[in-house]
Amino acid sequence: MRQDQIREGRLSGERNDQIARYLSSMEADRKIAHADLLVDMAHLAMLSDQKLIGEEQAGMIARSLLKMKRNGIPEEAFDERFEDIHAGIEGELIADAGIEAGGRLHMARSRNDEVATCLRVRSRQDILKIAGSLSVLRSILIRSAEEHIGTVMPGFTHLQHAQPTTLAHHLLAYEEAFSRDSERLLDAYRRVNRSPLGSAAFASTGFPIDRRMTADLLGFDDILGNSMDAVSARDFALEILSALTIMMTNVSRLCEELILWSSAFVRFVELDDAYCSTSSIMPQKKNPDCAEIMRGHAGSVAGAFQAVAVSVKGLPMSYNRDLQTLTPHLWRGIEDAAASIDILAGMIGTAAFNTERMREESDRGFSTATELADTLVREFGLPFRTAHNIVGRAVRSGEITTATLEEAGREMGGISLAERGLSAERIQQALDPDTVIDTREVAGGPGKGVMQEAILRRRDALKESEMMITTHIHALQRAEEDLMTVLRRLAGE
Ligand code: ARG
Repeated sequence: MRQDQIREGRLSGERNDQIARYLSSMEADRKIAHADLLVDMAHLAMLSDQKLIGEEQAGMIARSLLKMKRNGIPEEAFDERFEDIHAGIEGELIADAGIEAGGRLHMARSRNDEVATCLRVRSRQDILKIAGSLSVLRSILIRSAEEHIGTVMPGFTHLQHAQPTTLAHHLLAYEEAFSRDSERLLDAYRRVNRSPLGSAAFASTGFPIDRRMTADLLGFDDILGNSMDAVSARDFALEILSALTIMMTNVSRLCEELILWSSAFVRFVELDDAYCSTSSIMPQKKNPDCAEIMRGHAGSVAGAFQAVAVSVKGLPMSYNRDLQTLTPHLWRGIEDAAASIDILAGMIGTAAFNTERMREESDRGFSTATELADTLVREFGLPFRTAHNIVGRAVRSGEITTATLEEAGREMGGISLAERGLSAERIQQALDPDTVIDTREVAGGPGKGVMQEAILRRRDALKESEMMITTHIHALQRAEEDLMTVLRRLAGE
């Protein structure tokens, strides 16, 4: 069994498994094992370029690292007796390449800058994946909105029928929210994608290393300027988690509506069976479980943000081992959020909207009354407040008719709408939900014309974020390919 080579010099005795496991970050480090190999490779290439390591030894290390990249990191490297994957991979390297070569890779660096670099390498990839999933979700919402430009439905405030709108308007409301979530993630990406490597323990190093070279090889846009900040900063994790927390609040609101809309009271939507569960006792049940789990995950992601914030807030400069305990929260937040967006896209894409039920409800509870008040202003010269009051009184009487409006007008100081030419047909027309939608041609509203324009604009915005994501992905791919070329050369292949 391999020993943790890092302890051997300073500390005596073996520690028992309980203590070793308590200290080890190995479980969470599975997420950064591949990143650690890339970081090792970039560091090696730089050491070699700077002539800090001989050709022959660099070749041996390069061959070992390439072997692990191609065949997978041996399971032994993940033994929890190692404090972390950095020690695990170094142990593997020394076993494979020998101490004369393998024992040289850790010069001019520390696990402190190593882990900070790995976390950034891994999480920038996760950001791009989630942003990509958000794009899929957004395109599904836009497509669905396009199909439902003419689907009239009730809009709510205070969860009371308020005014008619369209399903397209409702779906695009979420799409806009998700587009901001995407912006926030991609904005965070700019700060995540900076390299701490070469900061060593915190005070940099006396070896003449080239931090820009390792940064380039790893696809970073820049290096972090201060080595003390570089090893101890986890605000990048907070930024990712805050963007994800906000995103999940939007996800959760949509889930809440899907849950509400699938209830027998509402019946606005039928979710695909795949996204639902049944009851172990009530054979008739079809429950919207995916939406509920997702609403729950919005809580766990917010919890992950909170856990990281509380972990870092009292830490003095620079590296403190507490930092290790926040990493699993970052992964948990990222995993829950990533899985949710993929499932949500599928759930919306397969949902069957009950457009008849929506129409049926669209003028319930006098929800077209605003348009009638507006009509009294536009065509019959009343101040809005007077019109609002007259229509409100008619509603209070229980029905809106020429008679109840006349009565209300009389109460409001003897205003006769009939005298001004208001007919029963004009009232009916104003109260028709389709009329309401047709009049809402102001930017941002549900009218058909502005909605069509909005859809075009949303498609452009989506294309723009897709392009940005692709640019980042290609830059990372190119960097990794170049790094492999350098490694193969060092390995003498
Ligand atoms: N496993 C540690 C972490 O995740 C990195 C190692 C730093 N260890 C140390 N003793 N300085 O943060």
